[in-house]
Amino acid sequence: MRRLREERDRLRDRIAAGRSQAVDRQHSLGKRTARERLDLLLDEGSFIEIDMFRRHQAHGLGMERQRPHTDGVIAGSGTIDGRRVFVYAQDFTIFGGSLGEAHALKIQKVMDLALSTGSPFIGLNDSGGARIQEGVMSLNGYGGIFQRNVQASGVIPQISVVLGPCAGGAAYSTALADFTFMVHDTAQLYLTGPDVVEAVTGESVTHAQLGGAQVHGTRSGVATFVHDDEESCLEEVRYLVSMLPSNNLSLPPALPSCGAATDTRPRLAEIVPAEPNKPYDMRLVIAELVDDEDFLELHEGWARNVICALARIDGEVVGIVGNQPMVLAGVLDVAASQKAARFVRFCDAFGIPLLTLVDVPGFLPGTDQEYDGIIRHGAKLLYAYCEASVPRIQVIVRKAYGGAYIVMDSRSIGTDLSLAWPTNEIAVMGAEAAVNVIHRRELAAAADPAALRARLVEEYSEELVHPNYAAERGLVDDVIDPADTRSAVARGLAMLRDKRKHATPRKHGNVPL
Ligand code: HXC
Repeated sequence: MRRLREERDRLRDRIAAGRSQAVDRQHSLGKRTARERLDLLLDEGSFIEIDMFRRHQAHGLGMERQRPHTDGVIAGSGTIDGRRVFVYAQDFTIFGGSLGEAHALKIQKVMDLALSTGSPFIGLNDSGGARIQEGVMSLNGYGGIFQRNVQASGVIPQISVVLGPCAGGAAYSTALADFTFMVHDTAQLYLTGPDVVEAVTGESVTHAQLGGAQVHGTRSGVATFVHDDEESCLEEVRYLVSMLPSNNLSLPPALPSCGAATDTRPRLAEIVPAEPNKPYDMRLVIAELVDDEDFLELHEGWARNVICALARIDGEVVGIVGNQPMVLAGVLDVAASQKAARFVRFCDAFGIPLLTLVDVPGFLPGTDQEYDGIIRHGAKLLYAYCEASVPRIQVIVRKAYGGAYIVMDSRSIGTDLSLAWPTNEIAVMGAEAAVNVIHRRELAAAADPAALRARLVEEYSEELVHPNYAAERGLVDDVIDPADTRSAVARGLAMLRDKRKHATPRKHGNVPL
């Protein structure tokens, strides 16, 4: 047996040594090899490789002369913090990591194992796309991967890490995953490369301009996380996995309670200004509420007017959605609705409770938004919340106006626990705007319109906008001291831990896409 193992190790070294030039090129581009990446991602010594001996069986175009073992992808299983995951890492030094039939079948094999064992699936992508020499069999290979991506969606977490080119078909597998990581300067993700773009449209564009990490992290929203180098990127993949359940039937990995149920956070009242229009950073509020002030923000550079983050409160994993008053006053727009909707659906699929922090002036008005389909995209967020059966807690931090109040996990769409601070404003619209509409004639006829407006605004605020109005009608469950928010949320999560809600049987709903 020892001899067999030694022979195997020798073969593995020979595979790498035979391509030393390609490996040097990979390093000179600031990229690591597939095996080096797996070493960074997985617990030391945990990797179990499968199909190392596999080779393509293609003929023609000189393919018989090159039949390297692995066929340009290292596949298998390992552990992250002792928990099992299934992985593949494309090897750009063999056929540019391109995907032919054998390559695709190896990826499909680990996907099948990930699904049947209920383990997260992680793909490290570095590939020129469909292997040109294998023609339609390469395309067929992608189809089998997409089919499995979709079957596994909502059953096991799927993570796509882009560490080099990821062109053509490979881009769709990334889009079907739950999370996409990219690295600045080396990662490129697009359906058609710059040459094709120029040939078809005449537009001259670089790889980075077309599909670099900056573009996907800030404009298209394809990249969930963007990193400066592979080390920090793969470290963050490990951190993400540490907060995810292995599958939809397992609980998210909890840590022991840290006594949050009795914590007070007096700084919260200082962070949030009383004036409804003064900006502040909602991330500071989140840091006060979560354990160790530590949270993992998704899409940090895209749709920044809403924050989506994973964190722990009293050891329990929670998904946090919060309006960000620092960006566009925290309004909901097309991109923010898409970002938050997908996150809510992910958390719901994997049993992660939702905490929604509300400080929202409304939906962004204007022709741009209407023409871009804010009704359709806003409906995605509405749909996602209405459908979510995980424990749901809403905290109204400052203001909650109009349709955006309803959408941000209000009582009417099914939140389990709604908490409000005493300084809140919950209403159809702000007091000034409301008074201008309902008292237009009196104000126009008044001898001193400013004085009249001030009095009417005060009356309206006291009667209709104060959270007591909502609390007296059961739309808010409790009005709490801001300092007690962390403890109230921790107690709420404990109260809702055993929540079970079964959907009415149907094939599937028709979520507005
Ligand atoms: C076969 C490929 C390949 C491919 C690269 N190589 N892409 N071999 N099929 N798709 C090989 C190269 O021939 C080269 O081999 C080696 O990989 C390294 O490639 P270079 O071009 O030298 O590297 P670089 O300069 O870094 O450029 C990387 C690249 C470029 C940008 C990815 O190779 C490229 O544009 N490739 C083609 C991309 C593409 O159009 N793919 C098809 C997508 S269509 P040697 O022997 O010289 O080292 C698709 C459809 C699927 O995927 C649709 C499913 C729905």
